[in-house]
Amino acid sequence: MSEQNATKMWSGRFREPLNQAFEAWQASFRFDVRLLPHEVAASRAHARMIAAAGILTEDELATMLDGLNQVPRAAIAAGSSFFNLEAYSEAHAKHRPNAGAVFSAQPGIVALHPHVEDIHHFVEVTLTGIIGDLALKLHTGRSRNEQIATDMRLFVREAIDTTISGLTRWTQSLVDLAEQAGEAVMPSYTHLQRAEPVLIAHWLLAYVAMAERDITRFRDARKRMNLCPLGSGAIAGATLPLDRTIAAEALGFDGPTPNSMDATSDRDFALEFTQAASVLGLHISRFAEELTLQATAEYGFLDLPEAFSTGSSAMPQKKNPDFTELIRGKSARLIGSATTLAVLIKGLPLAYNKDLQEGQEPVFDAADTIAAMLAILPEFTRALTFRHAQMKTAADTGYLNAMAAATYLSNKGIPFRKAHEIIGNAVRLGLETHRELSEIPLADLQQLSPAFAEDFYASVTLEATLDCHDVIGGTARPRVAQALTAARARLTEGLV
Ligand code: ARG
Repeated sequence: MSEQNATKMWSGRFREPLNQAFEAWQASFRFDVRLLPHEVAASRAHARMIAAAGILTEDELATMLDGLNQVPRAAIAAGSSFFNLEAYSEAHAKHRPNAGAVFSAQPGIVALHPHVEDIHHFVEVTLTGIIGDLALKLHTGRSRNEQIATDMRLFVREAIDTTISGLTRWTQSLVDLAEQAGEAVMPSYTHLQRAEPVLIAHWLLAYVAMAERDITRFRDARKRMNLCPLGSGAIAGATLPLDRTIAAEALGFDGPTPNSMDATSDRDFALEFTQAASVLGLHISRFAEELTLQATAEYGFLDLPEAFSTGSSAMPQKKNPDFTELIRGKSARLIGSATTLAVLIKGLPLAYNKDLQEGQEPVFDAADTIAAMLAILPEFTRALTFRHAQMKTAADTGYLNAMAAATYLSNKGIPFRKAHEIIGNAVRLGLETHRELSEIPLADLQQLSPAFAEDFYASVTLEATLDCHDVIGGTARPRVAQALTAARARLTEGLV
């Protein structure tokens, strides 16, 4: 055994030291250090399990649990000149999701342990420093393959919970904004061409619907992944008669995973998280893109909140939509994480392969990216101020009531295909004479069809144009009011 390998978790069969560059390159400690709280929790659960199997006495278990509790503090103390102890304690005390992120911001800990391979190794080394050789019993009946699978599940579960609370806050801000908008209108678009008037609230509720689906996607993924790999061993199951339910329960899992080969090599829970994050990113990105357009002089619908914009160093008049642009950019990054994981897993034979180590950083990055987006998005959304007058003018001109007008004719018994044609002719007439449909004299309309009568004008007002969409999910004012009340109720009842 070489000297340098002596502290490793696998030194026995090796005679030669590792190539130094290779050693540093293959180590994951610099990024998996953020799994420390999960590694400690999982190790405590494992200790209970092996104690129940008679590997540890009650006293040894107590010493082991106490020692494991001290590991984060010991790590902090060792790297204290680099470490923000208060930030960690505060995050931990509040059970703030992702307290482990505090560690990843502390390159000091990693720098102090150049020969530590990964978080599992680090905990063993640190625990040995605290409780002595008893620490070496902790690895009885377990493998790093199940440990990393467990730590990652704990990380993803926490990230899902953080994402769901962030998403709920964004949904709340959208519903608040929709309520504030009242009956204010805007043009809707298909093909990016003005289509029909809608309530601003209706448009905002479209994003509420997307966000609610996103929440269900994360909840669904969480249910599927909430099983505990501990006891799966390296590949074929633990070599001790462990009661796997002990660890599962201690870690808040719904039960043990059903197959050891799957449990140690599967990462689809992580893939699902990044995929759900990508879909969420797409939704937020579409919102951001719409706002970016609305904030242009060409649209003139939106005053960008100054608190979320920046200026140009060259052009003094500029107010740039940095927030919405970056949101679009970040969503690309989320897709990148999901893609990395999918490609990583695709060709892997069962069970554990070291390639899987490469799957950690994309998950961390997706979790950080989505958390940071959702931390700002609700406040940004609340700060939006729409130019209602401009939006109304855009909704009320340019023949956006043509479909309502055709519906008027079809209500008079004219087949819609014909009605469409007649209103098309009326629009042409309007374009030629610079008049809206409501400004064309009845006599001229009657030349196009005798079905036009005085009540036509009431059927093409802005209000009538909205209210004729009187179906579930339509933009008729009473329907939107109902939808808004229902969304608000779901939020208050915690159903969102
Ligand atoms: N750092 C490793 C990873 O992230 C832990 C598992 C190592 N297992 C092994 N057999 N080398 O995947």
